[in-house]
Amino acid sequence: MALWGGRFTQAADTRFKEFNDSLRFDYRLAEQDIIGSVAWSKALRSVGVLTEAEQQKLELALNELKLSVMEDPEQILKSDAEDIHSWVEQQLIDRVGDLGKKLHTGRSRNDQVATDLKLWCRQQGQQLLLALDRLQVQLVTVASENQSTVLPGYTHLQRAQPVTFAHWCLAYVEMFERDYSRLADAMSRFDSCPLGSGALAGTAYPIDREALAHSLGFQRATRNSLDSVSDRDHVMELMSVASVSMLHLSRMAEDLIFYNSGESNFIELADTVTSGSSLMPQKKNPDALELIRGKTGRVYGAMASMMMTVKALPLAYNKDMQEDKEGLFDALDTWHDCLEMATLCFEGITINAQRTLEAAMQGYSNATELADYLVAKGIPFREAHHIVGVAVVTAINKGCALEELSLDEMKAFSDVIEDDVYPILTIESCLEKRCALGGVASEQVSYAIGEAEKRLEGRYSPQIKVRNARLTDVDAIEGMVLTGPIRVKTYPVSVMSWCEISACSRSLNIKVK
Ligand code: ARG
Repeated sequence: MALWGGRFTQAADTRFKEFNDSLRFDYRLAEQDIIGSVAWSKALRSVGVLTEAEQQKLELALNELKLSVMEDPEQILKSDAEDIHSWVEQQLIDRVGDLGKKLHTGRSRNDQVATDLKLWCRQQGQQLLLALDRLQVQLVTVASENQSTVLPGYTHLQRAQPVTFAHWCLAYVEMFERDYSRLADAMSRFDSCPLGSGALAGTAYPIDREALAHSLGFQRATRNSLDSVSDRDHVMELMSVASVSMLHLSRMAEDLIFYNSGESNFIELADTVTSGSSLMPQKKNPDALELIRGKTGRVYGAMASMMMTVKALPLAYNKDMQEDKEGLFDALDTWHDCLEMATLCFEGITINAQRTLEAAMQGYSNATELADYLVAKGIPFREAHHIVGVAVVTAINKGCALEELSLDEMKAFSDVIEDDVYPILTIESCLEKRCALGGVASEQVSYAIGEAEKRLEGRYSPQIKVRNARLTDVDAIEGMVLTGPIRVKTYPVSVMSWCEISACSRSLNIKVK
């Protein structure tokens, strides 16, 4: 039965019902809807709408429902309820009878769905932070194993200067570091609870919305009821963070596809992340990487579609907003899968160090060194650049590397060139000269690896250690209670938990929810 039947004399057209219902996708909010409902039942108890016994009965039934949903989420799809909110309410009524009908007092599906979605975004955000972290850890591991693996560095897809495979890995560690911080930042911005905003104007019951927000693990309550029910910034922000990160993943995938090509032959991907051709037995295709590259488009698509949906929507809630979920779910699932797949690709990667070295030695990637050598001997850089250009053409015509030209041949370009030019032209010299911060010199790369390891280790080591309270802590805790509830983020568990610390007279009661 629909939640809003009283005003209607005709049943909904089945085609409209199918068009309108959101259960087939918002069933994913079941857990959040139940958790939000438990918190709401407590809020109703606090304003005397429910008795203690009624609230406890509802909470018990909701918790049982949550267990059943966690065991078998697909059961929801068998129902013809309009959406997940109707489904949960109906299940509750089936379990506790008329008492279940009291739960929606003072609440609207508008503040309910906004709350459910934020709770879902927070949980998903935490999973994504972990996935980003795992990929970075994997990249740093590959980097530390490949500090002396020389790799040609490219600009315009032309060999430019030699780098190392470690240095390449660390470039992506930086990108994913920014994604991580963007995601954490977005999450802190939507850490506010819309529940208690009613349909649009606020709830008519004198509920302590800050306490309600804290009970759901939010930092604070939202400040304006119209905004609360119509704000979907967090959906767009998460999708935009996902889009930038997918862009990074696609660049990394593209680099690896190129390195894996028969022409480069720099790396070999494991059998576990490649597929064969049905026709050509010799082929081993980098499908995982191509799919990462390919799936980037659908994430941008979801973001653009959401922005178009919200554009020019009048305040406050409009049904258009139901369109937020499918794109968000798909974009975040896709991003998560791609992060996982990228991590997997690095687990079994083989780097053909002989081949990458050969390639780095070809392509005149030490030409800049020769120019710098001439500059050191007093030739202005522009002139040195021209001289080396001539030397490169000569070497190309001869079919040899710069360092393979004899001293006499070198002197024909400039008579300042002496025997001491040859050590300058080696790969080792090219690498080691780049010794300023962020450069490819071995000392800098090993420093960068150490710093990245420290950052990654520091991320999940708790700043607040949890231990049993002692009687001597009472004063300090009382002080903290006065300044508001204390939240302890317990990464890497998926559900953010928080500590409610209450000091009653001189006895302590610390509950970790
Ligand atoms: N299924 C709806 C959504 O996802 C829930 C909110 C419905 N509110 C309403 N006033 N019809 O947006």
